[in-house]
Amino acid sequence: MKMTAKRALAVLLAVMMLFGCIGVGASAEGTTGFEAIRITCTMNGDAEAQRGFTWFTEKKCDSAIQVVSVADYNSTGFEKAITFEGTVSSWEGYYCHKALATGLKAGTEYVYRVGSYDRDLWSDVGTFVTDDGDDSFSFLAIADVQASSKENFEQAARVMDAAMELNGDAEFVVNLGDFVNDCTNEEWNWYGEAFNEANTSLTLVPVAGNHEGNITDKLNVGWFDTMFNLDAGDGVANGVNGTYYSFDYGDTHFTVLNSNDMYPMTEAQRNWVYNDITSSDAHWKVLLLHRAAYSAGKNILKPDTLAMRETIIEIVDETGVDMVLSGHDHMYFRTQQVAGDAVCEDTVYITERHNGQDVTFAVNPEGAVYALPSTAGTKRYGVNDGVTSSIMDAADVYFTTRSEKDENDVETNPYAGGCFANIEVDGNYLVYRAYVVNDDTQEVTMVDEYAIKKTVKDDATEGTKLPTDLFGSIDGSVANFFTEIFGLIIKYITVVLPEALGGLFS
Ligand SMILES: [Fe+2]
Repeated sequence: MKMTAKRALAVLLAVMMLFGCIGVGASAEGTTGFEAIRITCTMNGDAEAQRGFTWFTEKKCDSAIQVVSVADYNSTGFEKAITFEGTVSSWEGYYCHKALATGLKAGTEYVYRVGSYDRDLWSDVGTFVTDDGDDSFSFLAIADVQASSKENFEQAARVMDAAMELNGDAEFVVNLGDFVNDCTNEEWNWYGEAFNEANTSLTLVPVAGNHEGNITDKLNVGWFDTMFNLDAGDGVANGVNGTYYSFDYGDTHFTVLNSNDMYPMTEAQRNWVYNDITSSDAHWKVLLLHRAAYSAGKNILKPDTLAMRETIIEIVDETGVDMVLSGHDHMYFRTQQVAGDAVCEDTVYITERHNGQDVTFAVNPEGAVYALPSTAGTKRYGVNDGVTSSIMDAADVYFTTRSEKDENDVETNPYAGGCFANIEVDGNYLVYRAYVVNDDTQEVTMVDEYAIKKTVKDDATEGTKLPTDLFGSIDGSVANFFTEIFGLIIKYITVVLPEALGGLFS
């Protein structure tokens, strides 16, 4: 039903755009400075009833969002829309607008527009669907769009388009971090333009990467929290170098971490994660974070990642997380079932017919599966041959998605392309599939499949919660700061200095 309605809406919008019925203001005129750019609709708290919105303008104006159900929109446009007033603040030469739509109906498709109520200047329309609360839904995941040119953002957006075409039923998309490379206004504008269609047709679940909010990456602090309207963990002073938050969707609990805050992980975030996941009695627990705990990419052996992975693995094991999705290492890697940094050798697999296909499921497995769906972008890394030990023991599938053309310009890597994952949750079944999109032909190829059948439900833990106070956060942030400074000094001595000295004598 949802798909039919969504397709019908898409056709309607296309026809209306063709005849100029919509698209008031922004892109039509494009010169006043009050037009909304970088529009996103983000998960924010109750997935059945709320969505957060962020957009930017060059000039200061009032902020408003109008939301109306598809049914009402089709009969009377925005006449029956609910208007929510937003806030405006200045940010790096632009004005950041944020608004929260509340009181929405579960399982409903909505049409919205953002803009200035006073000026009657509105964006093109966007759409989103609210969670209907049942235990069946699907979502997409991409990572590390991270381009530094308009063309590369557009290439990454084509991967996102292919993902949406493959699964038109997807209800939201997770972006596993590193939206931009150098975190400039120019890059965010390119990202906003290239991903406008995706960001205004799906709810976005953003994960903080190290390129949009890390004290060592050109002091880009504060960007992530500014770019997205999120419901951050309660009582926690985050938002400077990223944000962590969680939400329920159907019978799945999603926990989104800020891995800029993890070496060492602040006590505030660590305690918050324990409290957050153990308080949930959802059937499935999915953890989303930027830095991967399992990878064969160039970052996995860096001190920050090594320090972080032990903490993450412990949390995953102790809280009963089923699946971990990460980015950061720009290559493809998926583990077997893992617990205690070791393969769960006793995992039982069965093959069953599921939605018309034979799928092999791990049955009520111990441990979790960790997946790194390479990158949807063009910055792709090779396989790091230096990675050994428990990480490679845990590997089930891994490869580079980098182009490897021979002397005749013929592609030799069957996995070359932009990558995305599609995850279907259907009651006791969770099916993860990864795809690559050919850069030249846009052909989509499935490159991995992993599925879990889980009939045993976890219980929520009652009792005293760990403290997530401000002092814990400050302590951890100070420790992070000195760890970062130490890391920079080591990097300078081992990498930058030899290169500089080499240049003197070459
Ligand atoms: Fe990264």
